Amino acid sequence: MWCLELLIPLLLIISDTNCQWNIWLPRDISTMTNSCVVIPCSFMYPSGIRPIRGIHGIWYFGQPYPQLFPPVVFKSLTDVVHESYKGRTKLLGDLNQRNCTLLIGNVGTEHSGRYYFRADIGGANKYSYPDFAELKVLDQPNIDLPEEIVSDESLELTCYAPDNCPDMTPQIQWMYTDYLPDPEFSSEYMEESNTAVISNTLTFTPRPVDNGQLLGCRVYYPNTTLVYERFISLDVKYSPRSVWVNVSSEVMEGSSVMLHCEVDSNPSPTISWMFGDEELLRDTASYISLPMNDVTIKNEGIYTCIGDNGYGFMNTSLYLAVKCKSDRL
Ligand SMILES: *[C@@H]1O[C@H](CO)[C@@H](O)[C@H](O)[C@H]1NC(C)=O
Ligand SMILES: *[C@@H]1O[C@H](CO)[C@@H](O)[C@H](O)[C@H]1NC(C)=O
Ligand SMILES: *[C@@H]1O[C@H](CO)[C@@H](O)[C@H](O)[C@H]1NC(C)=O
Ligand SMILES: *[C@@H]1O[C@H](CO)[C@@H](O)[C@H](O)[C@H]1NC(C)=O
Repeated sequence: MWCLELLIPLLLIISDTNCQWNIWLPRDISTMTNSCVVIPCSFMYPSGIRPIRGIHGIWYFGQPYPQLFPPVVFKSLTDVVHESYKGRTKLLGDLNQRNCTLLIGNVGTEHSGRYYFRADIGGANKYSYPDFAELKVLDQPNIDLPEEIVSDESLELTCYAPDNCPDMTPQIQWMYTDYLPDPEFSSEYMEESNTAVISNTLTFTPRPVDNGQLLGCRVYYPNTTLVYERFISLDVKYSPRSVWVNVSSEVMEGSSVMLHCEVDSNPSPTISWMFGDEELLRDTASYISLPMNDVTIKNEGIYTCIGDNGYGFMNTSLYLAVKCKSDRL
């Protein structure tokens, strides 16, 4: 970590490493409720300052001191901290080594927010660093879902859990995958700016029957009672896979009939009833009925029902025979 000082235009001089008030902490960090979190942190102060009686530090929640006098999370001089941090915080870093790494134990969602550090080098040399680490305390794992799930296309679902509590390493499991076609699982560990996330990716190719299927992701810490679950219901898009119409039938001239058409697709299709090239009825629904009153011989012929939902279309036809009244006499 270098500090650059601009002395004259275009001439950069790399000076001593600790020349300014500076802090390094992760901008975002997360953990699961009731576990712990370690916020890695190191700081710098101007090289001209010599610490008097050691270096002290305070961690604040919400705002940098003195704005709105934020709750004290940790204080190295005394153990007076805000109610909601009592017995929960510990400084793991050595302030004399400019290490302000903080441990917060038994975290709850109420501890989600920004954490600011203030260094006290002695005398008037106190400084509230404007940078902060934003903590998110999660009570459920996160699942990455694609915007759209389409039948017969390979699908990847990823479940994530933060891994920022050193004594406890989470495990991730997918649930209710028994009925999926050839599910595959792969886990990964990712580290970014001193924070870690583990993930488990479920890969399979959904079918129309998997629409509405419940899936779950479970995160747990072995040898503890801590378990976190999240459930999703699969919305599998598929083109019409069946178009049901009445079987071909015979009706009497002058009578009334109702032709039915039912389409299985997701999302619901637009259904059209056709008589030759003529469209008789069109609606967006999973089934429609075509009423015909006072049937004449002109109504005899092939009726086709077409279901189209944007993912594909399908049709089925029937033959309507009209029997003349005179035939009967
Ligand atoms: C700060 O202290 C923590 C806890 O002891 C340690 O894990 C970390 O490596 C230290 N960081 C640096 C930059 O030395
Ligand atoms: C959990 O406990 C078992 C038995 O007490 C031990 O063998 C195992 O190493 C522990 N696992 C973890 C992750 O601590
Ligand atoms: C078509 O099927 C529906 C539902 O089964 C029935 O109510 C209707 O009468 C049938 N129409 C004809 C012409 O068979
Ligand atoms: C019905 O489907 C068949 C086969 O896909 C196609 O050849 C025919 O043109 C369709 N009929 C109508 C009216 O869309």
